[in-house]
Amino acid sequence: MRIVSLLALWSTPALAIQTQPSLVETQRGSCLDAAWVHATATKYNLDPNARDGQNRRLNPLLQPGLKNPRFKFTDRRMNNPNIFSSCLQSGEAIHGLGEQVYPNGSQAYAGIYNGTVILELNPWTSHDLSRLVITILLQEVVGYGVSSFETGGGLHCAERMSGEGLGRCSPTHVNPEVWTSGKLSTLKVYANETAPVATGFNGITSLYTLTANVEEGLKGKASTKGNFSQSYSLDFWRDYLKDDVINYYSFKNAPNVTKFFTSAYCADNTMGCMNGCSRSYACTVAEAAGKNCLLIAFMTASLDPGYFQAMVANNNIPAYFCFAGYDGMTQYILNTINSGGSIIFYQFEPDTFFYQHPGKFAKIAFPRSDPANVALASGTFGEKGYGQNTTNQVSTDYPQIPIMRYMSKVVTTDPFLSSFLNRAQVTQLDINNIFSEYTALSTNTNIVDPEFTAACNWVKNNYLVWSNWVDKLPLCTMQDNIKYSYQGCNSSLRVVTFVWNTPSPSNASLPYDCEGGIIATPPPYSTSKSCDWLDSNTKTWMNWLSNPPLCDSSFYNYMITDCTSGSIRNVLFFWLLPNPTNYAQSSECTGGVSLPANSTIDCDYVPTNSGTFSGITAFSVVVIILLVVSLVLVIVFREKPVIKRSQWHLLVVLILGGIFMCIYVILGGGAPSNSLCAARPIFASVGYTLAFGSLLLKSLRVYLVFHNKALKKNVVTITRMLHILMGFIGIDVVIIGVWYAVDFPGPSTYISNAATFSGKIDHIECHSSSFIFPVLCIFWKAIITFFGLYVSFLIRHDDGDFQESIWIFSASCVVLMGALFMLPLAYLVELPAATSFAFCSAVTLVCTIMVMALMLVPKFARLNRADYKTSTSGTTAGTKNTAKSTTRQATTSHEQIALKSQVSPRDTTSVH
Ligand SMILES: *[C@@H]1O[C@H](CO)[C@@H](O)[C@H](O)[C@H]1NC(C)=O
Ligand SMILES: *[C@@H]1O[C@H](CO)[C@@H](O)[C@H](O)[C@H]1NC(C)=O
Ligand SMILES: *[C@@H]1O[C@H](CO)[C@@H](O)[C@H](O)[C@H]1NC(C)=O
Ligand SMILES: *[C@@H]1O[C@H](CO)[C@@H](O)[C@H](O)[C@H]1NC(C)=O
Ligand SMILES: *[C@@H]1O[C@H](CO)[C@@H](O)[C@H](O)[C@H]1NC(C)=O
Ligand SMILES: *[C@@H]1O[C@H](CO)[C@@H](O)[C@H](O)[C@H]1NC(C)=O
Ligand SMILES: *[C@@H]1O[C@H](CO)[C@@H](O)[C@H](O)[C@H]1NC(C)=O
Ligand SMILES: *[C@@H]1O[C@H](CO)[C@@H](O)[C@H](O)[C@H]1NC(C)=O
Repeated sequence: MRIVSLLALWSTPALAIQTQPSLVETQRGSCLDAAWVHATATKYNLDPNARDGQNRRLNPLLQPGLKNPRFKFTDRRMNNPNIFSSCLQSGEAIHGLGEQVYPNGSQAYAGIYNGTVILELNPWTSHDLSRLVITILLQEVVGYGVSSFETGGGLHCAERMSGEGLGRCSPTHVNPEVWTSGKLSTLKVYANETAPVATGFNGITSLYTLTANVEEGLKGKASTKGNFSQSYSLDFWRDYLKDDVINYYSFKNAPNVTKFFTSAYCADNTMGCMNGCSRSYACTVAEAAGKNCLLIAFMTASLDPGYFQAMVANNNIPAYFCFAGYDGMTQYILNTINSGGSIIFYQFEPDTFFYQHPGKFAKIAFPRSDPANVALASGTFGEKGYGQNTTNQVSTDYPQIPIMRYMSKVVTTDPFLSSFLNRAQVTQLDINNIFSEYTALSTNTNIVDPEFTAACNWVKNNYLVWSNWVDKLPLCTMQDNIKYSYQGCNSSLRVVTFVWNTPSPSNASLPYDCEGGIIATPPPYSTSKSCDWLDSNTKTWMNWLSNPPLCDSSFYNYMITDCTSGSIRNVLFFWLLPNPTNYAQSSECTGGVSLPANSTIDCDYVPTNSGTFSGITAFSVVVIILLVVSLVLVIVFREKPVIKRSQWHLLVVLILGGIFMCIYVILGGGAPSNSLCAARPIFASVGYTLAFGSLLLKSLRVYLVFHNKALKKNVVTITRMLHILMGFIGIDVVIIGVWYAVDFPGPSTYISNAATFSGKIDHIECHSSSFIFPVLCIFWKAIITFFGLYVSFLIRHDDGDFQESIWIFSASCVVLMGALFMLPLAYLVELPAATSFAFCSAVTLVCTIMVMALMLVPKFARLNRADYKTSTSGTTAGTKNTAKSTTRQATTSHEQIALKSQVSPRDTTSVH
């Protein structure tokens, strides 16, 4: 058998040692059961399920005890490092929620104390009973988790409730029973952080003797146990000055003194002690005179320190004060009773000792308690040494004191808890009953924890008393009891879902920490508002849960489609959250504004699939075809004199310019893109420069030949002219090149306010940040045009076949007219893109046609006319040129011939 258990021991270390819930843990929530609810309801004729108009139970406390805390008690001190750890003194321990113990009873796991109310556990029965009553009510009725902190005495309980000293090691919240006398000065240090309240019953400490001893004293000479010369009242202090009485209680004759009274309960050289006993100065004097001292038995020196020693000493009673601890003293008294001896001892009431031995003890009356004298109690004794006078001046009896419940000020941060602890009052009779119950139960060995059972029985039997101590649960409110979360912050629809902050552990759809008011959490709420908006307008949307808001423009939105073939964009309005069955109604708002009707806006450009674009394109193509035909004709008939003289190369260039302009018109449609935006200025600019550059060069060549004597024959060749044209185009290319390099007019979007509805519209256009480059381009065109006009003006009198002043002038006028038409369109009026495109394109095409017609039609018209000038070899000018310039013509006639030779070498050759 022994070997087996040794083997078992040997093999267990690998396994975790089995632990079990501690006794306190098994008691949690076990007192108020369903049977109690039933019995109490029947006894007082109460209905546990009846509810009031706000859906609160009328008797909310008439229910089985809560097994889980419904409230968390927050205390920042719990976050201090290393609390309830190595700083604890021996014998101290914390018993938290979920405490586990080893089979031998020692603690394996202290449990959770953060969030619980920590009650101080001091080692005497009335303290235990008070604590257990409060604990049962707090846990099972009020709804807090309760931990207990086990410690030797309550002397430093106020410090433990503060944020200083012990409050950083073993912070507590409540000491259910504090005997303040003799401790008041210590407790007062932390008065600023504690809130004491009376428990409702009083306590007293006193010196007692046995009732049997008092009876013996009254017998006087007849006494068989004492050597009394007269009758003595041993329940009165003054008789203790008598030698007979002193001898009766003699220290010298007391049995087993060294066995029971040791320095363990009063250390040597503290409180005047030596070997577990101190003595009064009167005793020192008496012993010196060969007389006796009496013996007074105490528990420990820390209980009411010095008070009774000083009181006895200051009344000149020669006495030894010996300490045996609570159990030792109790045992010593019981032995004395059994042996029929005499004893004086220190005790406090209420205590089980009096209930276990009813009628056995008599209080010894000392001089009436004088508050002024009691206030002089310094809590010391033996200050000058063993058996010397004491400086503690207390000499009157210990007062009846209200037993206090000390609470940390932290408790006042929780009104619900604070209200309960302030109202819980146990009367003297209540505590008396609890003690009687406990004393009766403690003889029954079947009861594991008679203290808990006694406290529980009292709670069960006094529903009407404590039900007034507990506040009703607050009404449930959205703000305090319901929490919400959002889903879909990134999508178009937010769904707010609601749950109870503290759902009932048995049924998550019910609240645990409130009752009535809101009975159920609101259903999920869908909204179009953004999560940020929901965060900053909590009150607003919470109202909307019950009263949907009036509709306004924030509940709908619109969408603008791309450009349609009709050159319009549709503006479609829609509710952000439409009613699933009716598109025209919102599901999150009612009344207010209604959804605006769908509308349209004009496009920013002419789409290529629109009729306008098709028409203009067709027109352009027709013009291009005409121009190509003209081009072919010019090339075919380049040998015809009229064409030849008007310098057919430049005519070709002119027609090319016209074609470019037509292409430019076609490029005016379609959505802006990089290539379109780049191509438009190039075609417009180059086309124009080709057309009007060629006109300028035409005139220039005629002018140079006819009016500039200095020029050599080969200077004004057609190749030279084409080079100059290249130069003109080069300037265009430079301007456009720099423009594109510096500030490319790519497609860009901008937003503007809509005119027809309240909202924004996105536009797209080819955009340059600066207008300097287009202006430069136009300026350059203007220079070419006006220089051309000027040169054609200079040659207006020259030979009709060479000069085309009238036509060039007309062409310029056409351009000017066209510009006059288009400018206001560009800068003054806002027209739909389609209209302005159609108008500008038509003007451009018409101008192109007119310019081309002005330059070509007269020539084609004279194509087949007999060429009289070839025969007269230019000596006669055109009709307009005759009279005025006869002399000049004479001087320049050889140059004309030269021009002719350059313009039409073969022609000239034929002349020579
Ligand atoms: C104690 O509980 C509170 C919340 O109830 C928590 O914020 C805190 O971090 C906890 N402290 C420790 C030390 O666990
Ligand atoms: C109780 O048992 C545990 C685990 O076996 C051990 O650590 C502890 O010291 C024991 N305590 C006592 C008082 O024997
Ligand atoms: C209360 O008094 C003690 C002792 O004087 C001091 O240490 C502590 O800081 C005080 N507490 C508060 C909250 O003022
Ligand atoms: C009783 O007291 C008297 C006087 O004090 C003394 O003489 C006598 O011896 C005492 N008797 C006993 C039995 O102690
Ligand atoms: C003293 O010890 C004896 C023997 O152990 C015992 O019979 C007696 O009751 C004790 N007396 C007191 C007062 O403890
Ligand atoms: C002690 O006190 C008494 C009375 O108060 C006094 O007569 C005596 O002298 C004091 N003795 C000492 C040693 O102080
Ligand atoms: C929502 O958007 C934020 C920022 O744009 C991103 O960090 C997050 O991951 C997104 N969440 C979901 C669920 O898409
Ligand atoms: C606006 O257009 C949308 C989409 O075509 C359509 O569903 C809706 O009925 C239209 N609203 C009105 C008021 O016509």
